[in-house]
Amino acid sequence: MDSFEVLISEQEIERRVRALGQEIMADYAGKPLTIVAVLTGSLVMLADLMRQVAMPHRVALVQASSYRGARTTAGDLAVSEAFLVDVAGRHVLLLDDILDTGRTLSEIARRLESRQPLSVRSAVLLRKIGRQVVPFEPDYIGFTIPDEFVVGYGLDFDDDYRHLPYIAVYRPGAS
Ligand code: IMP
Ligand code: MG
Repeated sequence: MDSFEVLISEQEIERRVRALGQEIMADYAGKPLTIVAVLTGSLVMLADLMRQVAMPHRVALVQASSYRGARTTAGDLAVSEAFLVDVAGRHVLLLDDILDTGRTLSEIARRLESRQPLSVRSAVLLRKIGRQVVPFEPDYIGFTIPDEFVVGYGLDFDDDYRHLPYIAVYRPGAS
């Protein structure tokens, strides 16, 4: 049987996202902000975070797929900018569910930099310890977690379990 062990509860996530929202609001008060969220894992956090950033701001989505299977292994990154709006003259806050190797965020940040934004910073719900291969320091971090595979609150295993309201360590059962 697959096993799920709760690592971060729904209440802890709620509290932390609220605090991050307040930090972000204080940092960007009066400035033109666009949150660029990486599909699909950051959707749940985006919906919660944007309502905590109680000031005018825009939201855009970008899709990144890294040619990996259900589990994380390194691969080339394909970024689809179909949804990406004009960020020239705006501050960009890049949002993702988790910083693992760092490839996704560093590559998307690099592409956004070329579109004349006023600044590009980043926020992640989770930062996994001991996996990073690309130097990249997120500006806002929800929680630092050990090197375990986690699901829930937007994070998936093979596209499942994104709906869980908490973050759980996922261990597939022997089949
Ligand atoms: P990076 O480019 O290696 O930093 O990978 C970031 C992406 O890998 C995230 O957006 C997730 O989609 C995926 N990922 C990394 N670790 C996990 C995990 O523990 N659970 C679910 N997805 C993960
Ligand atoms: Mg993802």
